[in-house]
Amino acid sequence: MALNTIIRGGTVATASDTFACDVGIANGRIAALGTSLGDAAEIVDAGRMLVLPGGIDSHVHLAQPSGPGIVMADDFESGTRAAAFGGNTMVLPFAMQQKGESLREVVKQYHALANGNCYVDVSFHLIIADATDRVLGQELPALVEDGYTSFKVFMTYEGMALSDLEMLNVMSVARETGALVMVHAENYDAIRFLTDRLERAGNTAPRFHATSRPIPVEREATHRAISLAELVDVPIMIVHVSNGEAMEEIRRAQQRGLKIYGETCPQYLVLTAKDMEGLNMEGAKYVCSPPPRDEKSQQECWAGLQSHVFSLFSSDHCPFRYDDAQGKLTPKGRTSFRWVPNGIPGVETRLPILFSEGVKKGRISLNEFVAFTATNHAKTYGLYPKKGTIAVGSDADIAIWDPERKETISQKLLHHGSDYTPYEGIAVTGWPVSTMVRGRFVVRDGKLVGAKSGGEYVPRAKSPYAAPRGRLVTEFSPAGGPNV
Ligand code: URP
Ligand code: ZN
Ligand code: ZN
Repeated sequence: MALNTIIRGGTVATASDTFACDVGIANGRIAALGTSLGDAAEIVDAGRMLVLPGGIDSHVHLAQPSGPGIVMADDFESGTRAAAFGGNTMVLPFAMQQKGESLREVVKQYHALANGNCYVDVSFHLIIADATDRVLGQELPALVEDGYTSFKVFMTYEGMALSDLEMLNVMSVARETGALVMVHAENYDAIRFLTDRLERAGNTAPRFHATSRPIPVEREATHRAISLAELVDVPIMIVHVSNGEAMEEIRRAQQRGLKIYGETCPQYLVLTAKDMEGLNMEGAKYVCSPPPRDEKSQQECWAGLQSHVFSLFSSDHCPFRYDDAQGKLTPKGRTSFRWVPNGIPGVETRLPILFSEGVKKGRISLNEFVAFTATNHAKTYGLYPKKGTIAVGSDADIAIWDPERKETISQKLLHHGSDYTPYEGIAVTGWPVSTMVRGRFVVRDGKLVGAKSGGEYVPRAKSPYAAPRGRLVTEFSPAGGPNV
């Protein structure tokens, strides 16, 4: 087969192996792996470089409505551009339903926003905020068949939190349709209780965001979500886990044979609640939920990765500008942390942080890095083996890394729409220099060369990770679906 491109002389790493190998690409796919691949229209010299599967960030928020007067800092164009500079070839943002909305309409709206505006490939998870009979009985089953095979539910946030009954109903639909449920696990009532009391006592600065959502709030909700999932025998992914107590709930469930998966994020490895203590409103830059905790929790999250209790490392990129009345400095936010928009940017810095803090510091292997940042995302969300690996037949989604390049993370290096990075000043070793999506460079030697129409929407298969165990805790099956 005539090759369009050969990436020559690099070290290829997958989730299982590391080997010296050239990569031959034809028609957007990996067509050959070997050392004597002959000639091609283009030869890319990857000497002294790592050739890795492009990162897949399966937890990003782009162009999401974020409350009155608040505007998210990234649309699809800027968010996917930043993703490409950060070594990613695919992101999975959310199509977020708000109360009263038709899910099908919401999906259409997000497609309209994304269409022609993506530098890397995208696929949508759904967010279910209004679990009506129509959504559960008609829209969700049809959307799953159309390739929207995962949905997120919130146990907190005004207007978004589902009751336990609603969670069970959504989980039942997931079981029946073969979709995977992602759970934001924090106890809404406990947060409201603490927030009200903190405000009454005049404790309204950004740092009290962390006080209002302490570890038991997350641990309890994690335990509850797992119990509800066990009741209907459905696998779930607990997203953005911030500490060891919640991680232990997942570990215990896994040891009992439940298909409970866990995700953690950079903010839980390198930030702490102390970052929210900045002068004036500076702490707002770090407000996200769950909040970053302390050094002990950081170590526990590393242990969660090392023991593979966590299978995913995502950014939870949810960017707002800081110095902006439509962002972190919204006038209402000055009156209380309650109103500071939740979320921080991170799609461009996720991979360098894990590479440097994880691989370079000997905490995880290079193959684990690939698994946590690409392969496991593809496997979990129905994209594998098209995406997430370097293998003959897979899409040529590749990031070329200089493993020795030293950088200090700084806003001026980055390409996202936010005006700050919460990771400012962190020194890293290892940087993605080029990113290729389906055989075409998007970023080459640090320069943008791709087009904003280059990214494609990718419908997803049902994931084997979403298949129920077929073991029920009662003699009665509350949900239909396979294996009952
Ligand atoms: O604070 C956060 N994490 N914002 C993003 C929305 C979410 O809960 O993932
Ligand atoms: Zn969340
Ligand atoms: Zn999120």
